[in-house]
Amino acid sequence: MSLASVSRMEAKLLLPTYERQPILFVRGRGVYLWDSQGKRYLDFLSGIGVNALGHNHPAVQSAIKRQAGRLIHVSNLFFHEYQAELAQMLTQISGLDRAFFCNSGTEAWEGALKLARAFAQKNNTNGCKPKTRILAMENSFHGRTFGALATTGQPKYRAPFVPLLPGVTFVKFNDLDDLQRKFDSSVCAVCIETIQGEGGICPVDREFLELASRLTKQSGALLMLDEIQSGLGRTGRHFAYQHYDVLPDVVTVAKPLACGLPLGAILTTERVASCMHPGMHGTTFGGGPLACAVAIEFLREEKKLLKHVRSLGEYFHAALEALDRKHKSIQDVRGIGLMQAVDLDSPELAKAVAKELLQEGIIINRTHETVLRFLAPYIIQKKHVDQLVKALDAALHKHSESGNKRTDKSTKKKRLASAHGEEIHAHA
Ligand SMILES: Cc1ncc(COP(=O)(O)O)c(C=O)c1O
Repeated sequence: MSLASVSRMEAKLLLPTYERQPILFVRGRGVYLWDSQGKRYLDFLSGIGVNALGHNHPAVQSAIKRQAGRLIHVSNLFFHEYQAELAQMLTQISGLDRAFFCNSGTEAWEGALKLARAFAQKNNTNGCKPKTRILAMENSFHGRTFGALATTGQPKYRAPFVPLLPGVTFVKFNDLDDLQRKFDSSVCAVCIETIQGEGGICPVDREFLELASRLTKQSGALLMLDEIQSGLGRTGRHFAYQHYDVLPDVVTVAKPLACGLPLGAILTTERVASCMHPGMHGTTFGGGPLACAVAIEFLREEKKLLKHVRSLGEYFHAALEALDRKHKSIQDVRGIGLMQAVDLDSPELAKAVAKELLQEGIIINRTHETVLRFLAPYIIQKKHVDQLVKALDAALHKHSESGNKRTDKSTKKKRLASAHGEEIHAHA
C-alpha cells in the first residue's frame, strides 16, 4: 500500500490522536530506516527510545525467531522459562529485589502507584489515617492512563480528562523548599523522573533527589523513580539514578526492554513487595515468553554497550556545546549519555529545524515546544554524530532569524558533578 492510500484510510478509520509525518517506513537495519520510496534515514530517535539496539539487530532477530517457533503466550496462570531469569538480571543491575512485568510504560507506572497505596495501607498499624497523598513533579510525564495522567505535571495532558485520581500534589521540580513545604506524614510516595524526558531532558538535581530520599526514608513513604525513558543504558549506566548516590524504593522501566515488543517492569525492594499478595495485581499479556526472551538478549547486549554509550554521549554533548557557542538561537544543551537535547529560542525554529533534518534524512523529535530531543540507538558511531551535528548546524544557519553569533543567553546552565565524576547538565 502507498503512503497516500494508508494515510487516506487512517484519516477515516483511526481515532485522530496522532499527527504523523508523511513517511511510510518499510524496513530498518542498524541505525537506518528506509521509506516506501527507498529513501534512507539516520535514526536519532529510536522509536522514542525503544530501538536501543537499532533495527534488525541479529541477537533480537534470532531470539524472536527462536521463541516465536516455540511459545508466544501462556498467561500468568502458568510458569514459563524466562520471567525468573529476566527478573534476576534486572534486580542484579538495579540493586532492587523483585520485579513485576507488564506491557508498557504507563502500565508500569500505574502498578507503581498501586504499590505505594498498598504499602502505606499495610504499614498503617498505629491506628492513624493511612498515608495516601502522592507528591509528583511539575513538568513530568508518566503516561496516558488515569493514574499516570494524574501524576503528570503538564496540564495539557490532564485537562481534557478531569477529574483524575485524587490525592496528588505537584511540587516544583528541583525546588527544595517546595518539596519540604509539601511533604508531610500523609505522603505515601514521591514520584520523580530521574531525567524528565517529555519535559525537555531535564535531570533531577542531586540535592533534590537526596532530599526526596531522606524525607521518604524518615517517614516511611516510597521514593519512586520513573526510568521508562532514562533507564536501561540510555545514560551510559543501567539506570540514571546510578549517577547519584540514591537507591529508590521503586523504579519503572519499559521502552527499550524488549527492543520494540511491548514489555514494561516495576522493580522494587523485598520490603515493599511484601505488601502484595496473589490477586492484588496482574495482567493477561505482561511478561509473556516472547517479550521476556527478547529482553534477556537485550540486557546481554546493553551491558556490553554501556561504555560506548558513555563515550559517544560525551562526544555528542561536546559537539552540541560547540554548536551552542556558535548559535545565538540555542538556549541550552542538556543531557547525559545518549539522552541529549538542544533547547532553542522559539517553537517555530525548533519545528523548522526538525523538519529540515527530516528532509535531509535524519530523524529527531521536538518535545516541550522548543526542545530538539536526540535518543539515538546505543550502536551509533562518531560518524553518525558528525553527520547529525553538521546537518543541525546548517539547519540552524538557514532558519535562525537571530544569526549565528552567540551573544548573551537568557538561560543559565548548572553542572552537577555526579558521584562518578560525570557531569549532568540541568537548567538553573
Ligand atoms: C518517563 C516516561 N514515563 C512513562 C511513559 C509512558 O510510556 P508508554 O508510552 O510506554 O505508556 C513515557 C513515554 O514516553 C515516559 O517517557
